Amino acid sequence: MRRGAWIDRRAALVGVGASLALARSDVASAGCASDVSLGALAQAAGVTFGCSIGVDALSDPAYTALVLHHARILTSDLAFKLPFINPQRGRFDFQRADQLVAFADTNRIPLRAHTLFWDLANPQWVTRLTARERAYEMDRIVDTVVGRYRGRIHSWDVVNEPFWPGFGEPGGFRKGAWYDAMGESYVMRAFKRAALADPAARLVLNCDMSERDDALGHGIRSSILRLVERMQDAGCRLDAVGLQGHLDPSLPFEPGAFTAFLARLAERKVDVYITELDVLDTGLPRDVATRDAAVAGQYATFLDAVLKVPAVKIVATWQLADAKSWYRSEWYRSVTPTLPPGWRSRPLPFDDRLQAKPAYRAMTDAFCSAAAMRRR
Ligand code: G3I
Repeated sequence: MRRGAWIDRRAALVGVGASLALARSDVASAGCASDVSLGALAQAAGVTFGCSIGVDALSDPAYTALVLHHARILTSDLAFKLPFINPQRGRFDFQRADQLVAFADTNRIPLRAHTLFWDLANPQWVTRLTARERAYEMDRIVDTVVGRYRGRIHSWDVVNEPFWPGFGEPGGFRKGAWYDAMGESYVMRAFKRAALADPAARLVLNCDMSERDDALGHGIRSSILRLVERMQDAGCRLDAVGLQGHLDPSLPFEPGAFTAFLARLAERKVDVYITELDVLDTGLPRDVATRDAAVAGQYATFLDAVLKVPAVKIVATWQLADAKSWYRSEWYRSVTPTLPPGWRSRPLPFDDRLQAKPAYRAMTDAFCSAAAMRRR
């Protein structure tokens, strides 16, 4: 896109309903040139931009260069997950996690460790334990894993995706090995133990599906607000709620309602992290230009809604370029039989050649608009 056209469109975007028309110098001062890193643009809006990364990327210099140019924070993909870091009871494998921590340390970039307890992805050995043994192992996992990286982790996704209203449990909790053993108290047990194991790390409750504006999404939002209140009333440290942001254009999204939900979280004095942002494009037209434009529209609408809330401190995508997306993995294809043969998802701001896509432009627009709005 011609640079002038981009600036005109962005100024119009910012200027709508306001007399503020940013001059070229203002755009430059806001760092809104089209080749500025997403991290720099987000920083101007008071937001830390980042992405997830796997150890496989560390041997891909072009990709790590793209990540380090744009990201100001990283999230582990697999390295800290129990099936990988604690594959057998009592046996820990820190190789992947150590590599990521070393990479983050070397590049002086904060690292978010994802995730300690996820009742949808437990290693088999956990499910074979008694309730009492699971409680013991939960404590051992926190002491061993969180303790090993004490002082070197920006934030821990202590519990991931704790809710699935479909089980009909009080509070909308997801049933699973940890929940079945301890009820909803497993969450606070994990958070309280993690707070002792690493007082410096921010502790995050990472949730999915809250973005959708339907009964399921509304249920998840209510469950999140209820649990946040119960944790705080119990004196259990919770620094941030992670909202994953795996957007699906086939699902309803009501920007105003989602902004209002984030504002309610902010009222509880917790930060909000958008932790796994990407756009599922399998329901969109196959034509690349049309699909890319629709994906960009999803990013624009979502970021416009979330960046209205100053409590949103992090926006992180789930990987950064299409080829690294989970939607391209053999695993995703194996669990998604409806995926059209030969389909190549394009859910992220950069394409297979690591070139910026319309989604990148939508993100720069959003961060620049937020910076202008927050400067007022
Ligand atoms: O590395 C092995 C490979 O050797 C083997 O041939 C292949 C067989 O399918 O599996 C590969 O490991 C898979 C790994 O992804 C790498 O593709 C694991 O089986 C598979 O479980 C793992 O899936 C990950 C999933 O979480 C479960 O951990 C996805 O990559 C990852 O993107 C996804 O991320 C989750 C977040 O943690 C939580 N929010 C939702 C998000 C998407 O599901």
